[in-house]
Amino acid sequence: MKLSRKEFVFAVSAAALAGCGGSGGNDVNGAEKEPPAAGGAPAAGKEVKGKKMKTLVAYFSATGTTKAKAALVAKATGGRLVEITPEKPYNREDLDWHNKQSRSSVEMNDKKSRPAVKTRIADIADYDVVYLGFPIWWYVAPTVVNTFLEAHDLKGKKIVPFFTSGGSGAGKTLDYLKPSAPGATFETPKNLTDASETDIAGWVSGR
Ligand SMILES: Cc1cc2nc3c(=O)[nH]c(=O)nc-3n(C[C@H](O)[C@H](O)[C@H](O)COP(=O)(O)O)c2cc1C
Repeated sequence: MKLSRKEFVFAVSAAALAGCGGSGGNDVNGAEKEPPAAGGAPAAGKEVKGKKMKTLVAYFSATGTTKAKAALVAKATGGRLVEITPEKPYNREDLDWHNKQSRSSVEMNDKKSRPAVKTRIADIADYDVVYLGFPIWWYVAPTVVNTFLEAHDLKGKKIVPFFTSGGSGAGKTLDYLKPSAPGATFETPKNLTDASETDIAGWVSGR
């Protein structure tokens, strides 16, 4: 299900007016501005003190938008591309945010929900940098992303979140992701919704 920006903004406004927003308490602001990118971290593939940074590009995508961007991130970084695959895939009904009882609404209303994921990176210890891609759901990352993080020891790693959305920014995304990867360092989430291949290559080489 591909959601146009207009459709989503309309849907959110309607939900907010009706008092049935999915996550409760989050900013309902489709025009939220993207914060400036954090600097200082070495880009993937670069050498740091003679050691080449090894990169993983892990992403969750329910309808393919983030998947396409993740492929471009992997191309730009030369990193290994891995899909975060839920045990139970999300179907159209699961993704219906108009329905308070839909799977995504129920999961996102309970930030402690941890939908099972199949994906395990056996050699996670070998990676220095993890690009982490996801769609924004109710202003944060889907909780299936938390499941993935919590299944791996990411201590000491640099996590570079990126996302696609129907118009909103990352909201409180980091507040909910950070506790799932203790000891990891997170960069500011990057909005790749409208990013071209050239934009993504520029972002990767500049960070
Ligand atoms: C359950 C659900 C909640 C969503 N919540 C938001 C939101 O809070 N803000 C927003 O801009 N877009 C929201 N969207 C739209 C998606 O972020 C957007 O369509 C995204 O590009 C989909 O990525 P994907 O194709 O990789 O799954 C939501 C979509 C779904 C299915």
